Amino acid sequence: MLVSAKEMLQKARDGKYAVGQFNINNLEWTKAILLTAQENNSPVILGVSEGAGKYMAGYKTVVGMVNGMLEELNITVPVALHLDHGSYEGAKECVAAGFSSIMFDGSHYPIEENVEKTKELVALANEKGLSIEAEVGSIGGEEDGVIGAGEVADPNECKRIADLGVTMLAAGIGNIHGKYPANWQGLNFDVLAEIQKLTAGMPLVLHGGTGIPEDMIKKAISLGVSKINVNTECQLSFAEATRTYIEAGKDLEGKGFDPRKLLAPGFNAIKETVKEKMELFGSVGKA
Ligand code: 13P
Repeated sequence: MLVSAKEMLQKARDGKYAVGQFNINNLEWTKAILLTAQENNSPVILGVSEGAGKYMAGYKTVVGMVNGMLEELNITVPVALHLDHGSYEGAKECVAAGFSSIMFDGSHYPIEENVEKTKELVALANEKGLSIEAEVGSIGGEEDGVIGAGEVADPNECKRIADLGVTMLAAGIGNIHGKYPANWQGLNFDVLAEIQKLTAGMPLVLHGGTGIPEDMIKKAISLGVSKINVNTECQLSFAEATRTYIEAGKDLEGKGFDPRKLLAPGFNAIKETVKEKMELFGSVGKA
């Protein structure tokens, strides 16, 4: 059964480790992440962006697939199904479809509007027993080939949003989605420490987990980060393993074109990446 992310994140905060949110794109991604979590006795959060939700035919399809896998793969570790960077409407749709956790990303709105919309969705999430993530300071990333720097959140605005009763808070501290540019300045730990102080005890979320050096990940966890989002790194692992298979001409040997064979190296590569992240984040054995 899907669970809210609240308890697993509070345990992570108290135990000084982080739970990974791994974004899913299809059946192979979902199965690889769930099996790896079970094998490593780790809690896990499956992230679904609005684009990935549409790609998988819609939120109800995602809920049906994930619930089916929890039962048929005998997954007993805590699993939350979470909307990633949700709009106000998308968040409501996911609540109705059966997600166990939502993110409302109002970071692009003026702070007053972010507060108003977050407040409304906190009430909805509470009513349904779901966890809710909010965001302050937008996370940059690559758009049309241009890599935008991540914003650094205002700690006082973080406190305002945290005080609305959200379960976890994503704050921009110079992190971005996708690959980091060579001249990246690194995470802003002074701001992270300030946010942690002002939001006392709130599990913090680090987006853009791909490519952040290990020492920065560990320092972020020591400063209250309890959830780390990883997406691009699984995509890169999958693509590389699939390319190797095809470049070696394996799809042309025997029944190597069978999708169950063709997608197997990519599937195993996702498992490997997820396991490495769970070890780095310290969530292995914490289910
Ligand atoms: P990456 O794609 O950089 O790993 O970021 C994932 C993320 O933050 C999803 O919200």
